[in-house]
Amino acid sequence: MSRLAGKVAFITGAARGIGRAQAVRFAEEGADILAVDLCGPIESVIIPPATEDDLAETRKLVEDAGRRIITGVVDVRVTDALQAFVDAGVKELGGLDIVCATAGITSSAPAVDLTEEQWKTMIDINLTGVWKTTKVAVPHLIERGSGSMVLVSSIAGLRGLLGVAHYVAAKHGVVGLMRTLAQELAEYGIRVNTVHPTNVNTTMIQNDMVRSKFRPDLNRPPTVEEFGEAAKTMNMLPIPWVEPVDIANASLFLASDESRYITAVTLPVDAGSTQR
Ligand SMILES: NC(=O)c1ccc[n+]([C@@H]2O[C@H](COP(=O)([O-])OP(=O)(O)OC[C@H]3O[C@@H](n4cnc5c(N)ncnc54)[C@H](O)[C@@H]3O)[C@@H](O)[C@H]2O)c1
Repeated sequence: MSRLAGKVAFITGAARGIGRAQAVRFAEEGADILAVDLCGPIESVIIPPATEDDLAETRKLVEDAGRRIITGVVDVRVTDALQAFVDAGVKELGGLDIVCATAGITSSAPAVDLTEEQWKTMIDINLTGVWKTTKVAVPHLIERGSGSMVLVSSIAGLRGLLGVAHYVAAKHGVVGLMRTLAQELAEYGIRVNTVHPTNVNTTMIQNDMVRSKFRPDLNRPPTVEEFGEAAKTMNMLPIPWVEPVDIANASLFLASDESRYITAVTLPVDAGSTQR
């Protein structure tokens, strides 16, 4: 229960889903948490937005695990706000060791039918937002003399997927960012890796828009079970999706000293999906 004892982790997209699971799992292993989320609707995104109540629930779960947490309603597209939050949080919690760039969105259309707004918002959040997250955090890691950054990509960062060209482009871009950051920061003892989930059981996929994309044969929103049958065909292991804690556990390994010589790695948590 102490794989991250004495460490501080900065996590974006922490109100729910994978970001919340990382916050809670890391707290269970002894880390204090700096957690941000936009907690609101985003242009071009039609899945239900996270709320401030969601972020408050993350706070409660971290505190129940016995750790300190500072939360902020911050948009990863706004560098000044991110910088101010991290600088203040690091001062209060005494340093920074781990960064999880997890905030992300989804939307969908064939590549040539994407609107300029869909394209721009996707790249601004899922790629540029990751860069901004690392940009404000790295000086604190350098000051610490070590660190681990986990950038949440996707199987869409390793292969193409129909109907989400902008998402695929952003998630591949995160891999390029990771590879260069790993080279530039190695001399400071800072490691940088990506994780690549298959479908994860969060609001990002459990909504009528995504379910319907998986079952175009039905002329109505599929049930969770009908969606699951189709989602299962993507994976090698006979499961429709993984759980947020599965991504949190992989992130925990990369964040901890157990992976001290692992950097510049693209780690699939994909039930074999990319090798199928
Ligand atoms: N769910 C999946 O199937 C899946 C698969 C592969 C990769 N991912 C990636 O995992 C990450 C987390 O996704 P999730 O499944 O937990 O989805 P989610 O929608 O449950 O959580 C994403 C969180 O990011 C926040 N967010 C979005 N834009 C933001 C912004 N500009 N600033 C701050 N916060 C913002 C949202 O408010 C939300 O709380 C994303 O990067 C996603 O692309 C998810």
